Amino acid sequence: MKNRLVVVGTQWGDEGKGKITDYYACNADVVVRYQGGNNAGHTITFDGQRFALQSIPSGIFKPNIKNVMANGMVVNPVSVVSELEALENRGIKDYKLYISNRAAMVMPYHSVLDGAMEAMKGGKLIGTTKKGIGPTYADKYDRIGLRMGDLLDPEYFAMRLRDALTEKNMILRMLGMEEMTFDAIYTQYMALADRLGKYICDTSVLINEEIAKGSKVLFEGAQGVMLCIDHGTYPYVTSSSPTAASVPQNTGIAPRYIDNVLGVCKAYTTRVGEGPFPTELDGDIANYIRERGHEYGTVTGRPRRVGWLDLVVLNHARRVSGLDYLSLMLFDVLSGLDTVKICVAYELDGKRIDIMPSTIPQFQRCKPVYVELPGWKEDITDVKSFNELPEAAKNYIRKIEELTGIKVAVMSVGPDRLQTVTLHDIF
Ligand code: GDP
Ligand code: IMO
Ligand code: MG
Repeated sequence: MKNRLVVVGTQWGDEGKGKITDYYACNADVVVRYQGGNNAGHTITFDGQRFALQSIPSGIFKPNIKNVMANGMVVNPVSVVSELEALENRGIKDYKLYISNRAAMVMPYHSVLDGAMEAMKGGKLIGTTKKGIGPTYADKYDRIGLRMGDLLDPEYFAMRLRDALTEKNMILRMLGMEEMTFDAIYTQYMALADRLGKYICDTSVLINEEIAKGSKVLFEGAQGVMLCIDHGTYPYVTSSSPTAASVPQNTGIAPRYIDNVLGVCKAYTTRVGEGPFPTELDGDIANYIRERGHEYGTVTGRPRRVGWLDLVVLNHARRVSGLDYLSLMLFDVLSGLDTVKICVAYELDGKRIDIMPSTIPQFQRCKPVYVELPGWKEDITDVKSFNELPEAAKNYIRKIEELTGIKVAVMSVGPDRLQTVTLHDIF
């Protein structure tokens, strides 16, 4: 049995990473969110209750688990406080939380500028969550960002804020927008420091100590490989890298500590926001899947775009993120269809390709090449083993394994923690 598992989305996000992280958290000592911020929405359902976490790691429901928000995240302290309050109001009061002192901090001007930049793009929207994720990462790399650890040093925080505001107010003036005042932000963030200060620490030291002790550590990715800043459908991506390759950098551990990577994959595909999506469906089948899978954004409520499973995407994720196993999610949603399709290649300008093109115009010209398999009518939401599945559903799994060379280690047949079937023990 391996001690360090990375959970990574293999599509355009919302694959069920929250559910599967919570599932494996039963065995974990530490759960680490390693990138993204409150653009994520991770849903966890158990004992008749449904929670949607945005930046808090999905191990928060288990009092013994150390939950880490690592340096690769962008942390919005306002949102963290309201998430914690919402959890506490629902009885989740006994938890362990650690926030990296090196994590980039989302400031009020970031979400304002996120919205303003999107508005300026006219018809060429990215469709961001408007949480200020892109502008916060941009400031990090531009070296004018503030970090969570700055909250613990009011003088330094004030200096960094003044410097950043000089630039941000210049931009806001240029856009004809209201400027932001130092005093208001300073007062608000010092109050947040009082509330969150006890959680802020060097999380790389903590994770390395846990690894040295032999603890079981689960790394929880947000978004998905196709939203990766490097390997996704740029520019229709988020501003961080969700791949397993980013885990060492984003958490401060050595690459050799990653034992296994679990690719979380819907039995079909969804996308929220703009950008190419070769297997996208419209009409009756799209509506059927959207309603059965409740495919509406956890963060923004937007209807998710829906399509068939795309193995060009999955194989791309396998290559760039090194997937050892798959977790097949929302499998129950496909029951009731006469046939199901799997995209095995694209046709681009008359040529068959199985590698993802790098530019949007090429991607948009890609036509999916499908294999069509018999569907199954049976409800599978109570299935407890692979053998209980209808033959056609078994074949669907076998086909995915055959065409990707990756074993399905776990399948999910409903949103509840109990509606999860282990096929191979991996953690
Ligand atoms: P994440 O962002 O990857 O954590 O995924 P989201 O939580 O945004 O979206 C996944 C949605 O599917 C949530 O509403 C989950 O409750 C739901 N879900 C997860 N697994 C299953 C499943 O196997 N079947 C069904 N029907 N719903 C599921
Ligand atoms: P989880 O972790 C699905 C999408 C947005 C937009 C693009 C850029 O729940 O899977 P951003 O606000 O990050 O700058 O938006 O990325 N996006 C997601 N889509 N699931 C997510 O997270 C997402 N996080 C960002 O819709 O298209
Ligand atoms: Mg989500």
